[in-house]
Amino acid sequence: MSKIVIVVGSLRAESFNRQVAEALTRLPAAQGHAFTFADIGSLPLYDQDDDADQADSVKALKALVSGSDGVLFVTAEYNRSIPGVLKNAIDHASRPYGQSAWAGKPAGVIGVSVGAIGTALSQQHLRNVLAYLDMPTLTQPEAFLQWKDGLLNPDGTVGEASAKFLGGWLEAFLKLVETHAG
Ligand code: FNR
Repeated sequence: MSKIVIVVGSLRAESFNRQVAEALTRLPAAQGHAFTFADIGSLPLYDQDDDADQADSVKALKALVSGSDGVLFVTAEYNRSIPGVLKNAIDHASRPYGQSAWAGKPAGVIGVSVGAIGTALSQQHLRNVLAYLDMPTLTQPEAFLQWKDGLLNPDGTVGEASAKFLGGWLEAFLKLVETHAG
């Protein structure tokens, strides 16, 4: 059983990425694993002056990530990059210098957008950041999702056409996490 933190790169109430993240946790491949959604919406704007006295919300995020076996990023693409709220959360938990919560945690990157390239550029920018943070990140398969009818069923589960692909993707991520366990 792996403990996975899910970080959704969107605060929108009806976020497609949040819906996809929730659907992933309901795939057969997810059964037996524990998924917890990180709260990044309550974090203050990152200010290096606060490194010695981090807000409770920052401490909570760091504790959640530190106690996990892996991190699943499910992110929107804003202006061909990662949303600021996601970068804010990543910066917070990377500090103070030398006390990053991310270091060594295996990561998965996936996302959905309304555009045809399905967050490809957002994911590529995120991979750059995760590499610097020393997070071993799933390279293949990649998953670029476009939001359209049928991606999810009305009950919030993954639609039939994508279930095999997304199940395989999740299995590959959980295998990476297992590889780095202990
Ligand atoms: C977008 N959107 C968008 N889509 C995309 O494919 N590439 C992009 O660069 C952008 N840029 C962008 C900037 C900003 C500020 C917004 C608000 C939106 C559209 C985006 O895919 C759409 O709003 C999704 O619904 C965002 O994901 P959530 O919030 O539904 O998870």
